[in-house]
Amino acid sequence: MQIIESRADLQAWSDAERAAGRRIALVPTMGALHAGHLSLVREVRRHSDRVIVSIFVNPTQFDDPNDFSGYPRDPETDLAACREAGADVVFTPSVGELYPEGASTWVEVQGLSDPLCGATRPGHFRGVTTIVTKLFLAARPHVAIFGEKDFQQLAVLRRMTQDLGFGIEILGGQTVRESDGLALSSRNVRLGPQARRQARVIPEALDLAESLLASGESRRDVILETVTKKLGEASRAHIDYAELRDPVALEIAPERLEAPVLLAIALKLEADPDGRGAAVRLIDNRMLETRVLESPAARGPLIPFKGEIR
Ligand code: PAJ
Repeated sequence: MQIIESRADLQAWSDAERAAGRRIALVPTMGALHAGHLSLVREVRRHSDRVIVSIFVNPTQFDDPNDFSGYPRDPETDLAACREAGADVVFTPSVGELYPEGASTWVEVQGLSDPLCGATRPGHFRGVTTIVTKLFLAARPHVAIFGEKDFQQLAVLRRMTQDLGFGIEILGGQTVRESDGLALSSRNVRLGPQARRQARVIPEALDLAESLLASGESRRDVILETVTKKLGEASRAHIDYAELRDPVALEIAPERLEAPVLLAIALKLEADPDGRGAAVRLIDNRMLETRVLESPAARGPLIPFKGEIR
């Protein structure tokens, strides 16, 4: 496994691999790697001959300076994990390498970047789309993979890739979870023990919404009320958002849910009262199947949705 720090070296490596007819994959990360990241490496291996993992804590996507400075960093463990997962190259550029002195070029996807995390973290997606563009240009991959845990990020990056004609295939990777359902996140290590227990309300709220819909409830506001109540059980947390949106344009779902909808949650947990842990914002989501009413006149027989949810 090679460690490459400069864009020029990565481009040269990639060009040589391309010339040899090999298919290159890129897995962008900010390090502090966990089983979720590594599942992306393994998954994308099945679609490529060579895998590049990039590790770069991107300053421009942090709206909160404390979140940036406190973001977990563990380069040695990360390199060992990449080797173990079968990465061929780890790209570890410095900030100056990707944002040279005076850098003033931005890539922005309008519309899809506005709601959810875009509304609660101003400038976040502009930072993400700018850095992923730089990574694409440095790594020149045929395929790149991003986690479905960050559903909006995946949607924004698919849009960007299409709009800019990168010609890169974008794959989505399934969310890897702890045994109690909490989605793995690099930020989980910053949760105090009490906050970690309280964080369980997130997967519980997703499960609750899923079973409500499965039982035939289709009123958006009833589902959201139940979700909000469940999240409210975490006494030391603040709901950034809990929303039902259509999974394509990310518009607010209609009052009567009729098609698969995205339930997206962002919860901010406080540090424990004894000072352990830090304030941590977690996000998660689930695609929910709805039952479709045959016709308004025939309310009663419910037809389960049978399409594929992707
Ligand atoms: P980071 O949070 O390090 O995540 C890197 C990739 O891992 C993202 O595609 C994310 O969706 C995915 N991921 C995170 N948790 C996961 C889980 N539990 N299961 C499966 N995949 C998971 O997302 C970023 O970094 C950055 O915004 C980045 C795209 C690298 C741009 O800086």
